[in-house]
Amino acid sequence: MPKRSWAEPFKIKMVELLKMTTPKQRKDAIKKAGYNTFLLKSEDVYIDLLTDSGTSAMSDRQWAGMMLGDEAYAGSKNFYTLEKAVKKYYGFKYMIPTHQGRGAENLLSQIMIKQGDIVPGNMYFTTTRLHQEMAGGTFYDVIIDEAHDSTNPHPFKGNIDLNKLDDLVKKFGAEKIPYVCVATTVNMAGGQPVSMENLKALRAYTHKHGIKVMLDMTRIAENAYFIKEREAGYSRRSIASIVKEICDQTDGATFSGKKDALVNIGGFLALNDEKKYEEASNLVVVFEGLHTYGGLAGRDMEAMAIGIEESVDENHIRARIGQVIYLGEALLDLNIPIVTPIGGHGIFIDAKKFLPHLEQLQFPAQALAAEIYEDSGVRTMERGIVSAGRNAKTGDHYYPELELVRLTIPRRVYTQAHMDVIAESVERVYKKRHKITGLEMVYEPTYLRFFQAKFKKL
Ligand code: F0G
Repeated sequence: MPKRSWAEPFKIKMVELLKMTTPKQRKDAIKKAGYNTFLLKSEDVYIDLLTDSGTSAMSDRQWAGMMLGDEAYAGSKNFYTLEKAVKKYYGFKYMIPTHQGRGAENLLSQIMIKQGDIVPGNMYFTTTRLHQEMAGGTFYDVIIDEAHDSTNPHPFKGNIDLNKLDDLVKKFGAEKIPYVCVATTVNMAGGQPVSMENLKALRAYTHKHGIKVMLDMTRIAENAYFIKEREAGYSRRSIASIVKEICDQTDGATFSGKKDALVNIGGFLALNDEKKYEEASNLVVVFEGLHTYGGLAGRDMEAMAIGIEESVDENHIRARIGQVIYLGEALLDLNIPIVTPIGGHGIFIDAKKFLPHLEQLQFPAQALAAEIYEDSGVRTMERGIVSAGRNAKTGDHYYPELELVRLTIPRRVYTQAHMDVIAESVERVYKKRHKITGLEMVYEPTYLRFFQAKFKKL
C-alpha cells in the first residue's frame, strides 16, 4: 500500500517568537541555574522540551471558550459544562475540579489512605507517591519487570504484574490496601501504555479482594491510541470509546488537564462513590476552593471541557504521537540509546548507556540534560536518581533502574523542523560524550528535589 503520512490537523494562526542565544550565554545560564534545567529562565530556552504539562497550544475554540468564562464564586456555568464533558467522555459520576493533577492527588490520598496503608502502583510518579506518603501510606511498585528495561520490546510496559500485587495482598492483607493506583501511559517508564486486557484482569482481581482501582488518567488518550494500534480487537474502535472503556475498569481518577486536555492549567478528581465524593468535596474547600471551581477560573474549566473533546479526536492523537515517533526514529537512526518502544509523550534517552563512564551518583541524566541545553538551547529534564528522591523512612537515595533524560513534546507547539534540530543537537552531544563529566549535588530541598536541587560540575 502506498504510504499515507500523518500531518498536523491544524494550521497556525498566531506565533510566539523565540530568542536565539549564543554558546557563551547558554554556558553561563546553565551554570547559574545550578545545572538544573528547571532553574533556567524560559526566555533563555530555544526549544522547550522540559515537559508536556501545561505547555500545549490551545485551539481557537478553546480560546473562544475562555471568553465564555462565568466568573461566579459558586455554581459557574463552566463547572456544569466541565461536569458534562467528564460524564460524557469518561463516564464518572462525580467530578471536583482542582488547580492541577496534584491537587486531586492530595484529595484522593487524604480521603482514601490511612496511616500504615499500602498503595501499589504501576511505577511511582513523583507527586503521586509524595501525596500517598504524606497521607501515611507506603507506595509499592507492581509494574511488570519489563518496564525497568529500557529496550525490552514489550508492547505494554505499563502493565501491572498481578503476581506482585498478589504477594502484597498475602503479605499485608487486602484491608491494608485502599486502592491500586494505575496510571495510563506510565510517565517514568517512558510513556509506556497499559493494555485493556491487563486493566480487566486487575479489575477482576481487585474486585475479588475488595480493593478499589484509582486511575491516574493524565495521559489516557495517548494510552488509548496504543491500545488501538497494538491490542487485538481494538483497531476499529474509536479513541473515545477506548478511553471510556478504560475508565469503566476503575472506581475513580485523578486528572491533570495540563497534558491530554490541552490546557495550561487545570485538573480534577473523579469518583463514583457518593460518600467519598462528599468527603472530597468538603476537603477541597480547605485546599483549592469551593467544589464547583476548585482553584480554577470559570474560563479555565470551559477551556478544559473543550480540550477533553479535542483530546480524543482521531487525527489529533495520530499526529501527536506521530510527531513523538518521528523524533524517536530520528534518534534511533543516529544510534542514540533511547527507551523503546517509543512512548506517548516524549523520547527518553538512556543516560546510563549514553554516559557509561559515570556512576549513578554522579547524576548522568542531570549532566546530560545540562549538556544538551548548552549545545543548542533545547531544554530537557532529568528522570533518574534525582527525580526518584530518597526513601522517606531510611533517608537513602532510591536508585532507579532507569536513568533517563526526557525530551517531552508539547502538543501542537513545535514543527517537524524543530524535531530535526533537536535530533542534530543530541547527535553532536553524543559525539563528544566521552568528555562529559558528572555532577555533585550542592543543594537538596526536602520535597520533590528535582525541581529545585543545585549541582556543580565535578
Ligand atoms: N500524574 C502524572 C502521570 C503526571 O505526569 C503528572 C505531572 C501528575 C500526575 C501531576 O499533575 O503536574 O498537573 O499536578 N507531570 C508533569 C510532568 C509535571 O512534567 O511530567 P500536575
